[in-house]
Amino acid sequence: MYRLWFTALIAVYTAVALVPSYTRAAVKIHILAGSPPNPPTGTFNDEVCTQAQADTIRAGITDAKNMANVAINVLKPTDMNKSNGFYWLFGGSTVSAAFVSKRFAFVNNLGTPDTITSTAPFQNSATDLIFTCIPASAPKSEEAYANTLNIGKKTTSGVVSNLNLIRFSPSGLANTESFVTAAARIRASGNIASAFPMINAKPSPPLAFTLVHEVQHSNPLLDNPETDHFIDQKDFDNKRAYGFNQIQAKLDANLKRLNPQNYAFFGLLAQSNPEYFLPNCYIGNPLGSAGTSSSAVGHLASGTCTANSTVCAACERIIKGIPSDINLAHFDDDTQ
Ligand SMILES: *[C@@H]1O[C@H](CO)[C@@H](O)[C@H](O)[C@H]1NC(C)=O
Ligand SMILES: *[C@@H]1O[C@H](CO)[C@@H](O)[C@H](O)[C@H]1NC(C)=O
Ligand SMILES: [Zn+2]
Repeated sequence: MYRLWFTALIAVYTAVALVPSYTRAAVKIHILAGSPPNPPTGTFNDEVCTQAQADTIRAGITDAKNMANVAINVLKPTDMNKSNGFYWLFGGSTVSAAFVSKRFAFVNNLGTPDTITSTAPFQNSATDLIFTCIPASAPKSEEAYANTLNIGKKTTSGVVSNLNLIRFSPSGLANTESFVTAAARIRASGNIASAFPMINAKPSPPLAFTLVHEVQHSNPLLDNPETDHFIDQKDFDNKRAYGFNQIQAKLDANLKRLNPQNYAFFGLLAQSNPEYFLPNCYIGNPLGSAGTSSSAVGHLASGTCTANSTVCAACERIIKGIPSDINLAHFDDDTQ
């Protein structure tokens, strides 16, 4: 009997030892939900989501994973990195599609969340990530759709965070529709702004869009936070690049693949205009410098599309970038 026990124990230890050390620990996802503490505590415990907000976040996570998988599929064809769309969004064939694909795989690290009533048990736990809902009365709620904090990093107020958080403001949760619905409108109208309906006088992104962005800031979801952590890059005017024209035409080509908002827009366009990313939707090499995509006045040569006429016509329509523009408020990283 003892001997059997011993053998079993050895087997367990061996199995544990065989798990490769590079396997990242699964992240546990939580939503802070219930009723807010009264009186307020002045801590993140005040950022309690309502049941409706918690449901919105849950649906948003599912939708964001769908968006990630749509993006990953569009990134598969060999040579897609020479497509027009890849050029505008990520800087062209000097970037590997696999690099971009990996960033969408991080979105799939978002597991199914449970609900919690206090952040206290998760302090300094690198493998827990908590979604919170910033009350409408908080200053941050005006300024940003969302804000990501990481353990060990200084917050805006100069305090070092002891929690991993993704915080949504009311405007970040205002639009509850799927990115698929939003993308269908882009396809029909040719207008990127149609994906961001005005709610309370603000263009409101689908939650999947915001999540794909914030995941790029969230250390517990990354393979290696040291090298994988992204901040929001600044454009030629020294402004964080959140707008559609900004991320394509006003951002240094070398920064595009490092800017979370480029991934969010790519996810949307992968659904609305996959032809934009076909290797055949290709205008010659080298592509030249970026024009202004919003005005669709580039100086790019006419198409060299070798696909069938339907695909080539769709490609031709967006050969100089998808026209139209949208400016968006902040999607904060933890330096803001
Ligand atoms: C772009 O894609 C092609 C085909 O897959 C590949 O050979 C090339 O190395 C890629 N560019 C980069 C920078 O990875
Ligand atoms: C053109 O190619 C696309 C994509 O491969 C395909 O879905 C479509 O059916 C083709 N259309 C024609 C008219 O061959
Ligand atoms: Zn950001």
